[in-house]
Amino acid sequence: SPIQTLAEQLPKAELHMHLEGSLEPELMFALARRNNVTLPYQDEAELRQAYQFANLQEFLDLYYAGMSVLLTEQDFYDLTWAYLEHCKRDNVTHTEVFFDPQAHVERNIPFEVQFNGIYRALCDGQNKLGISFRLILSFLRHLSEESAFETLELALPYLERIDGVGLDSSEKGHPPEKFERIFRRCRELGLRVTAHAGEEGPPEYVWQAIDGLQIDRIDHGNRALEDADLTAMIAERGLTLTVCPLSNYRLCVVDDMKKHPLLRMLDKGLHVTVNSDDPAYFGGYVNDNFRAIIDNLPITAEQVYRLARNSFEGSWLDDDAKRNAL
Ligand code: HPA
Ligand code: ZN
Repeated sequence: SPIQTLAEQLPKAELHMHLEGSLEPELMFALARRNNVTLPYQDEAELRQAYQFANLQEFLDLYYAGMSVLLTEQDFYDLTWAYLEHCKRDNVTHTEVFFDPQAHVERNIPFEVQFNGIYRALCDGQNKLGISFRLILSFLRHLSEESAFETLELALPYLERIDGVGLDSSEKGHPPEKFERIFRRCRELGLRVTAHAGEEGPPEYVWQAIDGLQIDRIDHGNRALEDADLTAMIAERGLTLTVCPLSNYRLCVVDDMKKHPLLRMLDKGLHVTVNSDDPAYFGGYVNDNFRAIIDNLPITAEQVYRLARNSFEGSWLDDDAKRNAL
């Protein structure tokens, strides 16, 4: 359709993508062979069959298991490079990616091995594909505050090359207030801050992320809509929401793509963006997410432009780069 072509051809920024969630089954098996890791699946097809999730935790269990093949700097490079090639195809010209260092340090993969592979690929993406980037260290909220502080300690030598921090993993039972001190420390260090909030957790967690963590944007934020005062405040402040349509559908945050709240969010004046979250697990990259929206919601060309513009405006690019982007 013309509107899908418009969405595909517009330059876009992606603001919510977990590098480990871009590990496609084919690369997972290739790295398993390269590293002599045994996967509990016969082949790629059997692995894909397992990607049926009733909630966030069921996904996270497979997401952490899948990472077991990532051992060397080259593995992290190959993972990141494969994602950047998808960006190129989708005309994603700027990307702000998360990585989960604690999930690898726990497996005895040093921070420097992860960082060096990821960062070298991102620099190659900038130089060879023209894709600008920001790198976001995401803390795992099911782990302790102490573990987050230890991780920040490991990251200190690299902070010139890390732009911000995030908060991901199991949301229910792990409210943002658990991380107020580490986020304050990160802000003092000059880092940008974002957090997953209101994906499965209640509106109260979105309030906490905004007031307690002082976040620059909100990852997901769907359940903020349940609280009219919260919704109005987010609109008023112009906070960006990084919405992930296919993720929402595959994790049962919405039970039908035709009921996805994206257009309602736009109508309420929220600064919404479209993102892939974990593209290898949820059925696609940025343009696939636009297609899911366009096929199921009565979206207009103006709204597609608005989403693309929001993606750059909500990014951590400097003002000049934002103006030149679209
Ligand atoms: N939510 C929370 N944690 C995550 C996600 C997500 O969608 N993807 C990877 N870690
Ligand atoms: Zn996410």
